[in-house]
Parts: sequence; structure tokens; C-alpha cells
Amino acid sequence: MNTDIEKVDPGSPDPETIARAGKILREGGLVAFPTETVYGLGGDALNPESSKKIYAAKGRPSDNPLIVHIADRKDLARIAAEVPESAVRLMDEYWPGPVTMIFPKTEEVPMETTGGLPTVAVRFPSHPTARALIRAAGGYIAAPSANLSGRPSPTSAAHVAQDLSGRIEMIIDGGNAAIGLESTIVDFTEEIPVILRPGFINYEMLKDVLGEVKVDPGILSENEHVRPKAPGMRYRHYAPKAPLVVIEGEPEKVTDLIRKYLEKAAAEGKRAAVLCSDETADSYERAAEKIRSGGAEQNGKNLCVMVSPIGSLTEDESIARHLFGQLRLFDEQNIDIIYSEAFDTPRLGQAIMNRLLKAAGHTVIRAE
Ligand code: TXA
Ligand code: MG
Repeated sequence: MNTDIEKVDPGSPDPETIARAGKILREGGLVAFPTETVYGLGGDALNPESSKKIYAAKGRPSDNPLIVHIADRKDLARIAAEVPESAVRLMDEYWPGPVTMIFPKTEEVPMETTGGLPTVAVRFPSHPTARALIRAAGGYIAAPSANLSGRPSPTSAAHVAQDLSGRIEMIIDGGNAAIGLESTIVDFTEEIPVILRPGFINYEMLKDVLGEVKVDPGILSENEHVRPKAPGMRYRHYAPKAPLVVIEGEPEKVTDLIRKYLEKAAAEGKRAAVLCSDETADSYERAAEKIRSGGAEQNGKNLCVMVSPIGSLTEDESIARHLFGQLRLFDEQNIDIIYSEAFDTPRLGQAIMNRLLKAAGHTVIRAE
């Protein structure tokens, strides 16, 4: 299949392109599109055949449900059987925006879309291109993140093309995703709302609106027997090819230990990388310079030490936005081992660390 890549102005996409993409979706085809969180792989949510195609294109297990995207709150009634008052308050505050809500589903939503579950996850994105496309498609787009199963979520059209070129009809290129992490998911099918996936709308923001909110124990626990409720949170995910180790502790001790690991990796002839904040990049860069000059003389090997700052600790939106793209770059550079600082920032730290720890398969070392 030839995948058509169409560039649009994200704030005001060309109507002809949107009409063409909408037609593909209504006829059962697949279109990847930008949202404010990450790129989505869209199909008609009410067409079971489209959902099957989504699973096939991603190589995703078919018991992992898809999020249904809408572009008008009035459209919720057709797919959600029961919407509690607390959810309405959350919509008033944050829809359209990066939060997904789970409700009991109506008959209209095929089991293929919800991975066999009696509930449906619904999201109303704020991205103008996403909203135009949802309307053009008839109101309901099922869209997981537009990556091959197991790879980091795509934050640009180029990432989508890396994974899905030749497997889907069209990719709409609306530039880089503004948030860079997938939406927060809140389950409203229990007495007290439960956070199934942390995201840009964080715990404090939800608590302010909902009063009481729980966090799914499955996303906090390192015990594999405590299973997350969202099926997708159970898989090892976002994994780069190289092993990734998270180093936590006091900042000075962390930089010292990572510098030691970089030296050790270089001595073993490994291509090492460090994922860090803007604040600490210089100190690693100095260590890297030393290794590069020494290494070239010693054994003539092309020693690589890749220092990758992804944002300032005082501006954690930047860290969130660059994380997935950086994990993809490590793959492209054939890195053997990745050391990462922990990013326990106050606002987005929970969401960032949730993704980073999954990428690391929960390998964490404490710097003493
Ligand atoms: O930001 C986002 O949410 C992006 C963009 C494209 O909107 N979409 C996204 O979809 O991240 P996906 O499929 O990669 O992640 C959806 C997560 C999975 O972990 C899935 O198991 C969970 O939501 N989920 C979907 N429906 C559910 C349901 N009815 N009950 C529990 N978990 C559900
Ligand atoms: Mg995903």
C-alpha cells in the first residue's frame, strides 16, 4: 500500500485534504493524524472492520482497547451509556483537551473497538486538525498512538512514517506534538474516579475538580502481580533497543555515578548515551570529551558518548515533549546502553517517570 503523506497548517488544515482523509475513514481505511498529545492512528470507531485493521497495522494484541475520539460533546450520548456528574465537571474544565474518560459503553460501540470490554474510553482532543478530521469522518474516530506496538509513541509525522509507512492509507503531517505524552486516563465506572494513566492533566488538577480521585495501584507498583486496569499499561512499552537504566538520588551523586558508568562503558567499547536535563548536560559533556580523546588514541575504536539533554528541570513541559523522540534517536544511533537521570519534577514528573520507568523495564539504581 502506498502511504500518502500530506502536510497541513495544524491550526487551519486545508479543507480538501481533510475531506479526502475523512472519505478514507468513512470507507473503512486508516489515517494517522496529529493531536496535542501524540499522533493517533485513526479508523472509524463504529466500524468493527476498521478496528481490526488498526490492530493489524500496529501489530497490537486485539484485547487492548482503543480510545474513541469525538469533536462535539453532544456526540458522547451515542457511545457512553452512563456519564456521572463528576465527569461532566471534568469535561467543563478540560474538554477539549488531553484527558480521556472511561464509561460503560452503548450497543453502538463494537466489541472490536473496546477489545471485548463493556466500557469505552472517550477523548475530545483540542487539536484543530484532529477535530476537523473527526467531523469529516462522521464523528467517531478510534485512535491508538500511531506507533508499532512496543515502540515509543510518535510525536511527529516522521516518527509515524518510520513505523507505519506502507501499512496505512494516509498520514496528516501537522508538525510536532505540543505535549508529547499520551492523555491522562480517568475511569468513571467505579464509585470513586481512578487514574489509569498519568498525563499532562495531573493528579492535583484532577483532585481540584473531582474532590476525590484514586490512582490505579497497578501503575505505581513494581510487583508484576498487581496488574494495571488499562490493558495497554500492562505491556512493556516505549522500549528502546538498548537497555536503559534510571539513576536516582541526590543530583551531585547522580551525575558522579553516571560519569563513572560512561567511563566504564567506554572502556568496554560500548556506545553509551546519557539522557539528562539541560542543567547537568555540561558536566557529562566534559566527561564525554575526555573519553573521546582518550579512547581514540587507546584502541582506535569509534567510541561514542551521546549526551542528550531534553529540557530544563524548571520547564518540565520540554522534557515531556522531547522524551519519546529522544528514545527513537537512541535506536537510530545504535546505542548499546542508556543511562538516564530521574525527572521527578513537581508538575509532570509522575507522567514522565511512568513512561521512563516502563522504557527501563523498571531498572533503577540509587546513587549513594
Ligand atoms: O493521547 C492519547 O490518548 C493518544 C492520542 C492518539 O489520542 N492515544 C493513545 O491511545 O494513547 P493508546 O491506544 O496508545 O492508549 C490507550 C490506553 C491503552 O493503555 C488502553 O489499554 C487504555 O487506554 N484503554 C482504552 N480503553 C479502555 C477501557 N475501556 N478500559 C480500560 N483501559 C482502556
Ligand atoms: Mg499507545
